[in-house]
Amino acid sequence: MKKTIYFFILATIALFGLSFSPQKSGDSDQKMHRFIDDLMKKMTLEEKIGQLNLPAFGDIVTGQASSSNVGTKIKNGQVGGLFNLKSVKKIREVQRIAVEESRLKIPLIFGMDVIHGYQTTFPIPLAMAASFDPSLVERMARVAATEATADGICWNFSPMVDISRDPRWGRIAESAGEDPYLGSKLAEAYVKGYQGERLSDENTMMACVKHFALYGASEAGRDYNTVDMSKVRMYNEYLPPYKAAVDAGVGSVMTSFNEIDGMPATGNKWLLTNLLRDQWGFNGFVVTDYTAINEMIDHGMGDLQQVSALALKAGTDMDMVGEGFLTSLKKSLDEGKVSENDINQACRRILEAKYKLGLFDDPYRYCNEERAENEIFTVENNRIARETATQTFVLLKNDQDLLPIEAKGKIALIGPLADNIQNMPGTWSVAADYTQSVTVLQGFTEAMKGKGELFYAKGCNIVDDATMDARVAPFGRPSFDQGKPSEQLLNEAVATAKKADIIVAVMGEAAEMSGESSSRTDIGLPENQRTLLAALLKTGKPVVMVLFAGRPMTLSWENDNIPAILNVWFAGTQAGNAIADVVFGKTSPSGKLPATFPVNVGQIPIYYNHKNTGRPLQGAWFQKFRSNYLDVPNEPLFPFGFGLSYGRFEYSDFNLSKTQLKGNDQLIASVSLTNNGKHDAQEVVQLYIRDWVGSITRPVAELKGIQKVLVKSGETKNIQFTITPEDLKFYNAELKYDWEAGDFDIMIGGNSRDLLKKTIHWEK
Ligand code: BGC
Repeated sequence: MKKTIYFFILATIALFGLSFSPQKSGDSDQKMHRFIDDLMKKMTLEEKIGQLNLPAFGDIVTGQASSSNVGTKIKNGQVGGLFNLKSVKKIREVQRIAVEESRLKIPLIFGMDVIHGYQTTFPIPLAMAASFDPSLVERMARVAATEATADGICWNFSPMVDISRDPRWGRIAESAGEDPYLGSKLAEAYVKGYQGERLSDENTMMACVKHFALYGASEAGRDYNTVDMSKVRMYNEYLPPYKAAVDAGVGSVMTSFNEIDGMPATGNKWLLTNLLRDQWGFNGFVVTDYTAINEMIDHGMGDLQQVSALALKAGTDMDMVGEGFLTSLKKSLDEGKVSENDINQACRRILEAKYKLGLFDDPYRYCNEERAENEIFTVENNRIARETATQTFVLLKNDQDLLPIEAKGKIALIGPLADNIQNMPGTWSVAADYTQSVTVLQGFTEAMKGKGELFYAKGCNIVDDATMDARVAPFGRPSFDQGKPSEQLLNEAVATAKKADIIVAVMGEAAEMSGESSSRTDIGLPENQRTLLAALLKTGKPVVMVLFAGRPMTLSWENDNIPAILNVWFAGTQAGNAIADVVFGKTSPSGKLPATFPVNVGQIPIYYNHKNTGRPLQGAWFQKFRSNYLDVPNEPLFPFGFGLSYGRFEYSDFNLSKTQLKGNDQLIASVSLTNNGKHDAQEVVQLYIRDWVGSITRPVAELKGIQKVLVKSGETKNIQFTITPEDLKFYNAELKYDWEAGDFDIMIGGNSRDLLKKTIHWEK
């Protein structure tokens, strides 16, 4: 009997065609709907509810799956998918249970957090955003999808597109930073890279945009904290990247942990149905974040049965880990708290996702041993990872062109992150094997081979406190050196530094000082690292600081005292090689800050696209009864979009095709960009617009265009942006997306602070 049903399903698929393209609607959609209609007719209520269940699969030993608790549930049709299971062998085994031992033989979907690369790890997302280059992000996502699908995974809990203006929040590391325009461009690039042309291809995976919504606005930067904001802010500043992912065809959406308007996102019908489906036309499925349904109990929304019904009714389709759906939906149906239609709808959306991925056609589509052998952690992928990483570094300071340095002479490499393999991949690198990473010491050794002398000393621990170290090394990657007292580490470093002509100090955060549940109220360098830097400066040798950071940090002291600072974020598997490439001048840094670096924590939230207020500062700080502080200026330490280069860029001849425009006119803004430096280099040219008068208050500037261009030494390039009324649109008080006539500043430059400016008038 069971076999007959399975063959019937296969025959149905064969009859209706095997491949499904998400881009092609119409016929193929109808085939899918017919197929799922037929399948659902055969499903019991329990089996339908089972599809909504997403347990996490801890690492299993091959052969154990069948006898495990989850194995039993799979056989009983109580599981729709699994996540965190890795390797073709294990996934094939678990999939086999689903398609051979469950009644209806419905395949499982296998998910994972492939956040910045799979085994070949790329820079963290905040760093990827610093590239200001959607094509680079798309290529990274393509590599990640190729590797992950070669290892059995077809569903990715990425991209994370939460706008964040609060660097205390550790998860800013996973985001694209503070800007809705950049965030939207990159959201689209991630989705395209993961999902490719056809979801059913064996090397494409379904993306899951997260965390819907507004998670990055957690109060006080504390993880999982309350969010509260106006609709106008939401629509204009926080929602655009999620919408961009939906417009790009993202297959699934993950809810966030926070509340919105007093209702947790997972139970928020306005968010998950009215906005996401009715307004934006999303037709994929919605999964919760980890136990987010259960967490609504602590939010104060009722018991497990109540919150599960609330989530389903709101538009949540799949329950990650908590099993609230599995254990209570039948009861809720009996009691009339949810309808059969609510359950059917959620089940249908999950089955559709499986269909789109081609799993009904071949449940082992992503279980190709040969691909697993040949397509993961390849030489080519590592080459791409290295090249990508060099595009994400941000040169924050470079007095007297100290950088680049030559890969010869005597160089002292000092610091707790110089030879620290555990911390290279960065936070949320679930599939990385950190032992395959290249440390800075290895990268420098390779680059200097046969050319000079390299001395190394650790100098200090990342933090001088074993308790904190244990907190930031939760995955068995401790960095704390218990063997040596701090003083000894310091003395060794100073002695080592004295042997060299130049010191490269590799400092910063541990990988897990940012990321989930890693919020900080002090976002500066740990005190012991400053002590080491001070001692190194005292030697009188030039000091270059290479900074590992998962967030914008407060660096006033460093900026005042250290001549050159290169921020390398967390650069992934090829970190050490990429850092050597940039420090030794093979590649010029071209990254720009995707989030503002504040002077101190008291300035947070600080972001470039703020409102003017009724009492803006006019001229110098401090002015009584103006919007400013007594103790620090309003300006950040490093503004959004900022980043130096080994080239020396000059912007000139800023021209506009017109200054008076009407209706659907187009405006061409052009500028000459000259590289007066000795090095060929890339520059990110940025276009900002200010809308002077609106029906609601408007920001002082909004990013509206980016172009990354290579300009050779001595060369001048003409850069053009085309501006249309589309670039002037915003959500007004009625949440209508439109533009309003008036005066606009058009601004072009290399960061959000230093801009050439002209004013235009645009009539309706
Ligand atoms: C995170 C998500 C992640 C999920 C599954 C949660 O703790 O918030 O971003 O996708 O775990 O690993």
